[in-house]
Amino acid sequence: MTKLTRRYVLKSAVSGSVAVGLAAIYWPSSSFANHVNILPKPLFVPLQTHGREDNGVQVYDVTLQNGVTEFFDGYHTRTSGINGSYLGPTLMMRNGNSVRINVANQLGEDSTLHWHGMHLPAAQDGGPHQVVAHDQVWSPEFTVKQKAASLWYHPHLMGKTGEHVWRGLAGMVIIEDEETDVLNLPSEYGVDDIPLVLQDRWFTKDAQLSYKLSMHSKMMGMSGNIPLTNGTVLAYFDATTTRLRMRLLNGSNASTYNLALSNGHDFSQIATDGGLLESPVSLKVLRLSPGERAEIIVDLQAGKAVNLINVSLNQGDDNAPQFNFLDIRPQASLVASDELPDLLTQIDWLKESDATVTRTFSLETSMAMMSGGASINGKVMDIGRIDEVVKRDTTEIWRLRNPSMMTHPFHIHDVQFQILDRNGQPPTANENGRKDVVLVHPHEEVRIIMRFEDYADEHAPFMYHCHILEHEDEGMMGQFLVV
Ligand code: C2O
Ligand code: CU
Ligand code: CU
Repeated sequence: MTKLTRRYVLKSAVSGSVAVGLAAIYWPSSSFANHVNILPKPLFVPLQTHGREDNGVQVYDVTLQNGVTEFFDGYHTRTSGINGSYLGPTLMMRNGNSVRINVANQLGEDSTLHWHGMHLPAAQDGGPHQVVAHDQVWSPEFTVKQKAASLWYHPHLMGKTGEHVWRGLAGMVIIEDEETDVLNLPSEYGVDDIPLVLQDRWFTKDAQLSYKLSMHSKMMGMSGNIPLTNGTVLAYFDATTTRLRMRLLNGSNASTYNLALSNGHDFSQIATDGGLLESPVSLKVLRLSPGERAEIIVDLQAGKAVNLINVSLNQGDDNAPQFNFLDIRPQASLVASDELPDLLTQIDWLKESDATVTRTFSLETSMAMMSGGASINGKVMDIGRIDEVVKRDTTEIWRLRNPSMMTHPFHIHDVQFQILDRNGQPPTANENGRKDVVLVHPHEEVRIIMRFEDYADEHAPFMYHCHILEHEDEGMMGQFLVV
């Protein structure tokens, strides 16, 4: 066991009273964590880059590379990262700007880099069709055409997404726009506005990240017992302001997190995957599945430490144990932050009556299937098959069904959708916004609505898939063209 024996008591409306801390976890004897003392470390904040300007285009240079990361003092873990050994820089973009990203691959193997949440032409999407071979550079170019949001990027190579992300290949994209410029939200990067890539990993006895799938991990996805926050184990953050904005990304392969504050206080969610909610939503627990993002504002009190924790709700397949993602340590005196506005934005709500097409997607996991363990509508992903053809400038409703025993976070490329209902019930306030991932619980039917705009391509498809990366790699993915 580790030196960290503090326990935190959370009074939650959802879960009642639970003790939370690293010490509360049972760690099997094969785990690395049983053999070392883990000491808290300052949170690593990924480098922020605005790129460089070249003839009116913002240009970003990113290199996929292998390296060594010291997650635990004195232990050298082989990892991969972007412009570094683990994770990558935060790419700052602005709505309306033209951008070009030079993606260089130095991994020694094929990969791709996908812009998750971005509305863009399919050929620039970085999905399984835009393979970047070792030693090659791929340079997608597009115009940022969406509202301020916290997006992210990660590899998307057929059958290899899970492994590449597990090794550390992921990073965030922050889009800003004129609307957020004047909202007075905390926005000083690394000070009162921090990106938090939340993950969990399993380390072998010699502190390596091994990616060997068992029958169980193919079925349940890869998860681990060590929480990583921007790649930091037992991270702490010295806060200097009364309000802290956290851009949360669930960057795990397969774990749904239930995020809460160790003091049981409420916090405010201000944004979903695709940007601002219309108004802040007060929460005690935020459920965030793989691929989802949320921006939250936490009120701090001088000198009073509070932790961002994952609580286990024993709901379906949460996977992750109870653990601590971030120890927030407010200084003895804090700079006063601005009040949170009551109104953040206005969303152009899509109307059910505007939809001209309804499609149904059934998310299936069945060990009995000969062709693989995961499928959509009975079909395992085939890169040579187009599953759906959508007409540009139309609005569609997609019915997502889950006849399986597990939850599946369903993701669609190119669009931000809105949730119409879950089993006929309207979505909760904090899901009532622009989304690109939606969790579909067992035996649930979720209806979402979206409009396909701007881009059409008869050859390059977009993907839709489960964002449990092992399910995606096992074939719970399909392709659609927008024509
Ligand atoms: Cu986050 Cu198809 O991806
Ligand atoms: Cu995506
Ligand atoms: Cu799934």
